[in-house]
Amino acid sequence: MRAMQIPSDHPLLLRIVDDLYAQGWSQQNIFLPEALTLELAAECHKRAGEGELVPAAVGRGLAQEVREGIRGDHIQWLEPGETLACDNYLGLMESLRIAMNRRLFLGLEDFESHFALYPPDAFYLKHLDRFRDDDRRMVSAVVYLNQAWLPEHGGHLRMYLEGGIDYDVLPAGGCLVVFLSGEIPHEVMPATRDRLSLTGWFRRRANDVFI
Ligand code: OGA
Ligand code: MN
Repeated sequence: MRAMQIPSDHPLLLRIVDDLYAQGWSQQNIFLPEALTLELAAECHKRAGEGELVPAAVGRGLAQEVREGIRGDHIQWLEPGETLACDNYLGLMESLRIAMNRRLFLGLEDFESHFALYPPDAFYLKHLDRFRDDDRRMVSAVVYLNQAWLPEHGGHLRMYLEGGIDYDVLPAGGCLVVFLSGEIPHEVMPATRDRLSLTGWFRRRANDVFI
């Protein structure tokens, strides 16, 4: 089984890298091929149906706890070698990792990601993706897996940009949003239907400064 990869100088990847450099985030409405989006959505539904997705926790280590008043999604972490569709997604993210390292010298060493399913009315309050005691997460990447999503379904990703500007992204299937994990506060608004995504983080090596 050979996973999908694209050259690290593919125009789509160069656009993302240029956006990240210029403004700290990028939105690509047509990123995942449609067939792959459908396969990943089916895989997410299947795992949810089999009870493999669990309520997401906030915090890290011993301080980790489920708090639905902060975030109400259900998640499952991805491992390589599970299904071809998942590996194709991981392959694309690997291409993006290489592209970012080549052009931005970010030193991104690995990538962690999970399926996320927000049931109707679930949300994730405004937050940053970097932990106080662990600053390895550099770049966040979310791909959406929702067919025929309309603005009235809600579920926007709201990013709080410089200059007091709020910017909303519709979680429409195939769309990718990438942003600097430690710099862009963001929030997931409640939706009227299940909201599916794959969310991941490109990480650099840990600094050994633990108290
Ligand atoms: C997260 C997150 C955004 C989204 O999982 O940390 O902010 O649009 N997700 O799903
Ligand atoms: Mn987040």
